[in-house]
Amino acid sequence: MIHGKARNVIITGTGHAVPTRVLSNFDLEKMVDTSDEWIRTRTGILRRRVADEHTATSDLAAEAGRLALKDAGVSPEELDLIIVATITPDMLFPSTSCLVQKNLEAWGAACYDLSAGCSGLIYGLDMAVHSIASGAYQRALVIGADCISKVLNFQDRSTCVLFGDGAGACLLEAADQAGVLASRLGADGRGWDKLLLRGGGSRHPASPATLAAGWHYIEMCGNDVFKFAVRIMVEASLQVLADAGLQPEDIDLFIPHQANIRIIESAAQRLNLTEDQVYVNLDEYGNTSAASIGIALDEAVRSGRIKGGDRVLLVGFGAGLTWGAMIIEWVEKA
Ligand code: ACO
Repeated sequence: MIHGKARNVIITGTGHAVPTRVLSNFDLEKMVDTSDEWIRTRTGILRRRVADEHTATSDLAAEAGRLALKDAGVSPEELDLIIVATITPDMLFPSTSCLVQKNLEAWGAACYDLSAGCSGLIYGLDMAVHSIASGAYQRALVIGADCISKVLNFQDRSTCVLFGDGAGACLLEAADQAGVLASRLGADGRGWDKLLLRGGGSRHPASPATLAAGWHYIEMCGNDVFKFAVRIMVEASLQVLADAGLQPEDIDLFIPHQANIRIIESAAQRLNLTEDQVYVNLDEYGNTSAASIGIALDEAVRSGRIKGGDRVLLVGFGAGLTWGAMIIEWVEKA
């Protein structure tokens, strides 16, 4: 039972959705001055999925949410909370979670979005765990969803090769069994300018000048984010392991945010994790931001890589700067 938690909380369903359109490294070679070899060796990414002009974040989020509900055998009317973690909402307001609620017809659910970059799914899971554990809510749908391709400058090779679109969802419910063992969130707003989308908000409202300056695109200090990511993934993992009274060797599957294979390998090495303890799918999807951990978790469960009793360590980092880590003892569906 985690600190301050009155009831146990388990994940009873997972789902994910990605666009059908594939953009390979070879496609990108034709768009910017890059190469498959550079992208593969520097990031581990081979291809990514990219949404078409008719698809927005709420469309992928609703599809992932629908699959998680189906997996759990829960109907939309039974939901009382929907949290969507995203940095690419359909619009500044209303929240993307309200659009998901409309799409799912989950009329009994309270809805909000949260912005924690690629840590978003873990932030959402943590909020849902405490909301359910307190007894205030019974069933929460947490979705990490982003269409980063919509805010990428496809002439900027330092960012456009890294990201893909997608959504990953988890359905959480109260239970007698173990479930979520420990969870930690953190943030350091001093790193706000390491990864940002400058324009279109109240600081710099969208205008011809912000458009001309390219402030509707992601900006990133790649090297700073890289160093922060390796350090914080290790620190947050060790903290949450200590909270749960576990050692790295007790972890059956480590699901890190999928940003760069070199970040994942450095963190895994420092945590003394073996290759078969680490889940990697960024070769297929690139960095899908708030969706990445949810997509990986759903794939791992559906492929049998996670079984009942397994201990799973999730860890993410992202814009803010933010981070989050969570350990779950997986409960098999009855
Ligand atoms: N193709 C070819 N060359 C490139 C490319 C490219 N796509 N991008 C950069 N280069 C060049 C650079 O111009 C530079 O050339 P120079 O030496 O002549 O100046 C050279 O490659 C090396 O550039 P670096 O930036 O030092 O490359 P690095 O090995 O650090 O990799 C990368 C860059 C992949 C961005 C890495 O720093 C990284 O992964 N950082 C973390 C990013 C991240 O995780 N962001 C997501 C955070 S999560 C969220 O909240 C959304």
